[in-house]
Amino acid sequence: MRVDSTDIKSIAYTEAGKFEETRFEKIHNVIFDSSNEASIIVAEEIAALIKEKEELNQPCVLGLATGSSPIKVYEELVRMHKEEGLSFSNVVTFNLDEYYPMGKDNIQSYFYFMHEHLFNHVDILPENINIPNGMVSADDLYQYCIDYELKIKSYGGLDFQLLGIGRTGHIGFNEPGSHLNSGTRSITLDHVTRADAAPAFLGIDNVPRKAITMGIGTVKSAKRIVLLGWGLNKAKILKETIEGEETSSVPATYLQDHDNTTFVIDSEASSELTRVKTPWLVASCRWTDILKLKAVVWLSELLGKPILKLTDKDYNDNGMSGLLTEEGTAYDLNIKMFNKLQHTITGWPGGKPNADDSHRPERANPAKKRVIIFSPHPDDDVISMGGTFDRLVEQGHEVHIAYQTSGNIAVSDEEALKFAEIICKLNPDNSEAKAIIDFLQSKTDKDIDSKALRQLKGLIRQSESLAATRYLGVKDENVHFLNLPFYETGTIKKGNLTSDDIDIVTSLIEAVKPHQIYAAGDLADPHGTHKVCLDALFEAIDVLKPKAFMNDCWVWLYRGAWHEWESYEIEMAVPMSPDQVLKKRHAIFYHQSQKDGVMFQGDDSREFWVRAEDRNRLTAKKYNDLGLADYAAIEAFKRYHF
Ligand code: F6R
Repeated sequence: MRVDSTDIKSIAYTEAGKFEETRFEKIHNVIFDSSNEASIIVAEEIAALIKEKEELNQPCVLGLATGSSPIKVYEELVRMHKEEGLSFSNVVTFNLDEYYPMGKDNIQSYFYFMHEHLFNHVDILPENINIPNGMVSADDLYQYCIDYELKIKSYGGLDFQLLGIGRTGHIGFNEPGSHLNSGTRSITLDHVTRADAAPAFLGIDNVPRKAITMGIGTVKSAKRIVLLGWGLNKAKILKETIEGEETSSVPATYLQDHDNTTFVIDSEASSELTRVKTPWLVASCRWTDILKLKAVVWLSELLGKPILKLTDKDYNDNGMSGLLTEEGTAYDLNIKMFNKLQHTITGWPGGKPNADDSHRPERANPAKKRVIIFSPHPDDDVISMGGTFDRLVEQGHEVHIAYQTSGNIAVSDEEALKFAEIICKLNPDNSEAKAIIDFLQSKTDKDIDSKALRQLKGLIRQSESLAATRYLGVKDENVHFLNLPFYETGTIKKGNLTSDDIDIVTSLIEAVKPHQIYAAGDLADPHGTHKVCLDALFEAIDVLKPKAFMNDCWVWLYRGAWHEWESYEIEMAVPMSPDQVLKKRHAIFYHQSQKDGVMFQGDDSREFWVRAEDRNRLTAKKYNDLGLADYAAIEAFKRYHF
């Protein structure tokens, strides 16, 4: 959806057709196809406000957030400053929060974040920047918070407050339990919040336990509030916030009675809203094929009945009488949808040679296909599609694996030290290994890994990957380590995708001329590495599209360790026998540096192989519950049409 600049405000509930659709919703929200497009529109609203205030000769008082959500908004404001002369000289900012204790020069501090993403690149006066000071002494903290609050008031309050939302429903760091009228204060962070921050701190133990945050009362006193929500990870909490009851256990629900708030969200983040997830429950629907399947799967899951047992009454009782009118009887509709799902199942992911392929997910010809499996990190291939990978090799296709990033960040210092020490024991004169050991012994929290250490960590992951690909029968020359440059910053924060990254991906595709490409279609975190790797692939495909060989190239998307496609979205379901499940488990085991105490677990403490098995078992169970065959495990794919 594209709306004009400041029009976000004016897309009202009462606009034609919207009232009915949003009848479950208590907060005005606008859904965009992409977070980039949405961020630009929010930046335009902020820029318009800055200019309006400038004309009135007044300060523009902005409340600002950190985290991944507002990054693109800041990038766009910087662009407007540089290219369009947007001035920040009348802007006064108050940041929502800061970890406590936290020094300003620490790269994890919000002070550092704000300067890196915004303040260092615009003409804001340093004295107009206010960020809670994470180094205030415990004795002074109480008064400091009162003064922060008074300072906001002295400017006449916040004209505009930008927010993100945490998975606990926090805004700022107002965790569950926060009061409606709370002011700026210190707070203890929720476990979920700390787990979400763990990757940035290289492990949950390094995440501070406390923070200073503006209160709910402070935020709500803003004249205008815009909350940003991107990606599947935010879908559940956004539904609770927008549709649930106002409650201190989801502090963002307090925004329900603010009269000038808009939630700006992308389509993934909106996916749990009633009007998106089950539109037939809110208004009459235009029944597309995909919506029909979605509705029938939903009904079957809701009633705990296989599809073929759904009755006319089941449909009528659950808002789908319109669908029955279009389709005839439940009997006809059930069979149609059952067949659709049945046809997604295949043990021949590369196509079944000499078979009628009119109802199969893949083409029979050519019988032997060239395949590239793109893997963002050096283990996503086996974690997400190890069973399918195995089948493709066994069925005689020419399988190439392309590891897009080195994955070096995810190797712990202890693991690297182990290898550096082994090198030194074999060759005590090895100066590189000695330098790595010296570096590791003096490394502090603020240090970025040295180039040599990053290289060693990357090599550890390469060797693990080769062990796994050899085990699954792929020749070493078909394993490609792309080491995309955007990833190689040595820190969690990655660089932007550039033509260097895209050229590397393009060259490989052009050299192999694949009939099939598999890639991670993860949208859980739109700023995460998987999404950037997917963007690199999509851009490469765009470049190559005009070439003849691309007419024969089909792209299949798998999902990473955290999410699976919904049953109705799956276009190819590859079943696995119990033996194949074990084989996949062994392939994952080769990635030993990622086995115990992985840094990027989030709040899910299961190891990757357990997650993969649970997920594949669950997909199989869902198929079985819908009335299809009972498999041990299923890997799922959705086709990307370009
Ligand atoms: C940040 C802040 C937090 C974040 C929230 C979402 O200043 O106050 O409320 O907005 O945790 O974080 P991201 O955007 O990283 O998902």
